[in-house]
Amino acid sequence: MKAFRIFTAGLAGLVLAASAHAAGDAKHPHAPEGGWPFEGVTGQFDQASLQRGYQVYKEVCSSCHSMKLMSYRNLGEPGGPFYDPEYPNPNDNPYVKALAAQNEILSPTPNDIGEFDYRPATPADRFRSPYPNVNAARAANNGAAPPDLSVITKARHGGASYVYSLLSGYPAPDAFVEREVDGETVTYVDMSKLGGHGGHGEEHAEGLLRLNPGQYYNPYMAGDTTPNYLGDPRHNPPGGFLAMPPQLIEGRVEYTDGTPATVEQMAHDVAQFLAWAGEPKQTKRKSLGLAVMVYLGLLTILLWFSYKRIWRNVEH
Ligand code: HEC
Repeated sequence: MKAFRIFTAGLAGLVLAASAHAAGDAKHPHAPEGGWPFEGVTGQFDQASLQRGYQVYKEVCSSCHSMKLMSYRNLGEPGGPFYDPEYPNPNDNPYVKALAAQNEILSPTPNDIGEFDYRPATPADRFRSPYPNVNAARAANNGAAPPDLSVITKARHGGASYVYSLLSGYPAPDAFVEREVDGETVTYVDMSKLGGHGGHGEEHAEGLLRLNPGQYYNPYMAGDTTPNYLGDPRHNPPGGFLAMPPQLIEGRVEYTDGTPATVEQMAHDVAQFLAWAGEPKQTKRKSLGLAVMVYLGLLTILLWFSYKRIWRNVEH
């Protein structure tokens, strides 16, 4: 009897897990062509890409997303986008100072007459937040507060590849069609025009996907498209809806280093920048880790020989 109960409980668990999976079926995030330079045992961040990524964050994302765990000084620390060996202390780095001073922040300490003023940020300040609090953030974004991006690559399955895929995965402008329904204009995504690479969407989903006002479709977003899908419900498109409009269109930023600002390039750079922000000590950790492994290897050999020597006259 007991065995039977355990069996049915296990079966119910499996069914639940399977249905949860079906609802949240989004396309699998993928890395940019050529992969990420910071992966693997010795992989490191590409500094030029981190610099461009900061530019994208500053010029595009920072109008909606905070990065509360970051201070401007972090940008100039070893492994960071603007690290310069000439300035081991990033607070002295003139470039970091200039980047900080581009942001007006509300001073966290009162002035002489007890009022809080706006002033240019210093390297010691946290990144400027776009909204004073989460309710203001919600109110400005159709009810969905843009999440803080400090550790977003750690908070989402797929990490940097997810951010890259999400930002570059919105349907192209020619995939949208408008129809009059009961006197109102409704926008649909024509799934046959979605394009993209791989995933289960392309093979099946062909019909129209209805967009609710203020919502955008993305095949990499977790969610359920069934209620909005006009085609065969067994083959509903992957992904879900979110309140973030597509952000990257070709030439949205003008890179200071002259790199052509394609959608993929910007998504690549900002995703790498966010991966660095989530783990700014990665460079140090990897070089230390390697040294420790070499040390432990040598120690093992040494210990083996001393063990042999110490016990050489003992029968065992
Ligand atoms: C106009 C405001 C706005 C801008 C600009 C913007 N976002 Fe968003 N973003 C949002 C909102 C709103 C959400 C929450 C969407 C939701 O949950 O429906 C969001 C969500 C996200 C998410 C989380 C998606 C998830 O899995 O929950 C990521 C990652 C993200 N944005 C990255 C970026 C990056 C990177 C940029 C800059 C290239 C950027 N955003 C620019 C408004 C914005």
